Amino acid sequence: MLSRLLPADEAAVTHAAALLRAGKLVAFPTETVYGLGADACQGEAVAAIYAAKGRPSFNPLIVHVADEAALDSLVDRTEDARLLGAAFWPGPLTLVLPRRPSADVSLLVSAGMDTLAVRIPAHPVALDLLRRVGRPIAAPSANESGRLSPTQAAHVAESLGDKVDLILDGGSCAVGVESTIVSLVGADPVILRPGGITHAQLESVLKRPVLYTNLAQELGASLPSPGLLTSHYAPHIPVRLNASAPLPTEAWLGFGADQGIVGGAARRNLSPRGDLTEAAATLFALMRLLDRQDFSAIAIAPIPETGLGVAINDRLRRAASLNSPAVFISRPKG
Ligand code: TXA
Ligand code: MG
Repeated sequence: MLSRLLPADEAAVTHAAALLRAGKLVAFPTETVYGLGADACQGEAVAAIYAAKGRPSFNPLIVHVADEAALDSLVDRTEDARLLGAAFWPGPLTLVLPRRPSADVSLLVSAGMDTLAVRIPAHPVALDLLRRVGRPIAAPSANESGRLSPTQAAHVAESLGDKVDLILDGGSCAVGVESTIVSLVGADPVILRPGGITHAQLESVLKRPVLYTNLAQELGASLPSPGLLTSHYAPHIPVRLNASAPLPTEAWLGFGADQGIVGGAARRNLSPRGDLTEAAATLFALMRLLDRQDFSAIAIAPIPETGLGVAINDRLRRAASLNSPAVFISRPKG
């Protein structure tokens, strides 16, 4: 498939909205960089984002909406969130907020976590598209994993041209660097990623200190991910990988046809038809469902180490090692 690249006129944006509602991928301009969008409520569409980017792990994604009213059903809007939203939205600011339990957004968007990163972009095409879709849109930068973020439609075409259904051309991005990400889930506001809104701008609105974090640097390079310790969802019971069958006390999480496998205290399947996109879409929801103290562990069938399977296995290995008594992590001194 070679994707269509269309100037972002009214007809193209209307078409793009229909594609997104149908679960397709659309690259669109924002004021920071081009985003690779999918309907945040459709797990398989979100999984397709990771597949297109070739990301070896499930980094959580930013959810884009057209206005603050659209956030009410998704996140708890804290006082700080209201102040920052009033000052900088639409604009290059992303807020990490507590996710509402009822939020109709795939758990894959936030890699299983209880938070959601949200933003209202300041680009007429992005806003027009979001209004026409009428649903929250998950969108990372529209580049292959490990490549530079695209600031022109042609960059997207070069990097992901055969993997998206449509690229909306809205010219060059005015800001050119990604949004500033601020976490508002802890006691103090923390900048997780510097970007279009400065530290000084944030402090002038909140009238209190805003912290920086770089947990990766603080802890040294030995950790697989900076988010591993604090931000990623971790099951409470052990996880046993590459299992061929469950023990009687274990919950079974299968993949593909597993009729021959019997036993276990509970049984679910990531994708009975052995489809990795479907497995990615159901992974976090099924892990949560089986993460109950009445099971001794979650036994998980082998997942092929290809395509999205690489990211699924990355996540599962982290879940398994976090619950292994042999693994502990201490902070370096000083
Ligand atoms: O300017 C931007 O923010 C662009 C445009 C397209 O909006 N998007 C963007 O997305 O840069 P991406 O996926 O390349 O970067 C999103 C960052 C990731 O580093 C991810 O770790 C962080 O946002 N993130 C997303 N959800 C999070 C959450 N719930 N908690 C902490 N960090 C989160
Ligand atoms: Mg990016």
